[in-house]
Amino acid sequence: MALLKSNKVFSCLGNITPSLGVLSARNSSWWGGVQMGPPDPILGVSEAFKKDTNPKKMNLGVGAYRDDQGKPFVLSCVRKAEALIAAKQLDKEYLPIGGLGDFTKACAQLALGTDNEVLKSGRNITVQTISGTGSLRIGANFLSRFHGGPTDVYLPKPSWGNHTPIFRDAGMQLKAYRYYDPSTCGFDFSGALEDISKIPEQSVILLHACAHNPTGVDPRPEQWKEISDIVKKRNLLVFFDMAYQGFASGDIDRDAWAVRYFIEQGHNILLSQSFAKNMGLYGERVGGFTVVCKDNEEAKRVESQLKILIRPIYSNPPMNGARIATTILNTPDLRSLWLEEVHGMANRIIKMREQLSAGLKKHGSSHNWQHVIDQIGMFCFTGLKPEQVERLTKEFSVYMTKDGRISMAGVSSGNVGYLAEAIHAVSK
Ligand code: LMR
Repeated sequence: MALLKSNKVFSCLGNITPSLGVLSARNSSWWGGVQMGPPDPILGVSEAFKKDTNPKKMNLGVGAYRDDQGKPFVLSCVRKAEALIAAKQLDKEYLPIGGLGDFTKACAQLALGTDNEVLKSGRNITVQTISGTGSLRIGANFLSRFHGGPTDVYLPKPSWGNHTPIFRDAGMQLKAYRYYDPSTCGFDFSGALEDISKIPEQSVILLHACAHNPTGVDPRPEQWKEISDIVKKRNLLVFFDMAYQGFASGDIDRDAWAVRYFIEQGHNILLSQSFAKNMGLYGERVGGFTVVCKDNEEAKRVESQLKILIRPIYSNPPMNGARIATTILNTPDLRSLWLEEVHGMANRIIKMREQLSAGLKKHGSSHNWQHVIDQIGMFCFTGLKPEQVERLTKEFSVYMTKDGRISMAGVSSGNVGYLAEAIHAVSK
């Protein structure tokens, strides 16, 4: 309707006077019906942060790692890989549609473990993607086009803010299962099991492999086992989002445990991977999408269709990030250095959790902040209410998402005291 009301027909025809009023070509518009959209709930926080002139301001919105001086952190293994790549004077030809072969192989090995039967029998297809978001979107498009079952996807409640638009824009129907228990700031295990046991057969269920975003609450291994059983009983299609491998515990194998366990149990999963966090390759946009198939022949068919999906979207992925990740994964010295650095990042976050909790106690907070320590990965789901979050931003220039999530990666020895003081002030 809005478009019909606009004067586009008249303006493209030139000097014809619209009967509904005189509109000159200069102020005519194609987009009169386009409404102002809200800022992105996560990335929009950074835009607001940039405008703040308070020297004490803190950006705890977007999940991007900072060093203890609060500076963006480029891993040494990345710098070294870049030097090796530069010295090779490689060409800049197009990559294949599915990406750099050495990368997709190393990416799948990292997730599944080198000796995984799936890799040995070639029943996976892994394509390089535009980081985790691109991977999820290719996966969602693939599901929407080929999944014979219901087009429902069940997300944990809450889930990463971008999951909903990714699946919705791909034509899937969004549903939810209970995950987070606000009364304990922990995992609602019984609620999750109860909800999952009622999901219609063959639906898609999305699971965060580790370092659940936004809550920082992960199931324990014995809980994962029960989830796997019930998912199998319901014959659900599992889509794992693994954006934080290594970032939760500091150990890449431990963080991939659930993914590997589900595969061992016979789930033919879909898997999204991102190298944004664990290699700090945020802007390089490097990730992978894997489909575990029944056999190699099925994998080949799936591969052909993934290529058909990808080609009209971006033709083929960018090469620089994939080259860096591959060089790190396939060069023993750099790989060891990377593992140390991932461990270092995870540990610094764990330390900040302890200091934040101690700081709150020191300021005399009467609340139980144990969850700040118990939660894992980049985020802490503080339990702060929207009005408290608003006060934190307005009165203390502490920027975070409205749901009370803080990126622990933005907390440092220099500002953790200020943060504790500010949280105490709005929560006492
Ligand atoms: C986040 O949740 O902050 C990150 O995953 C970054 C993003 O793109 O949202």
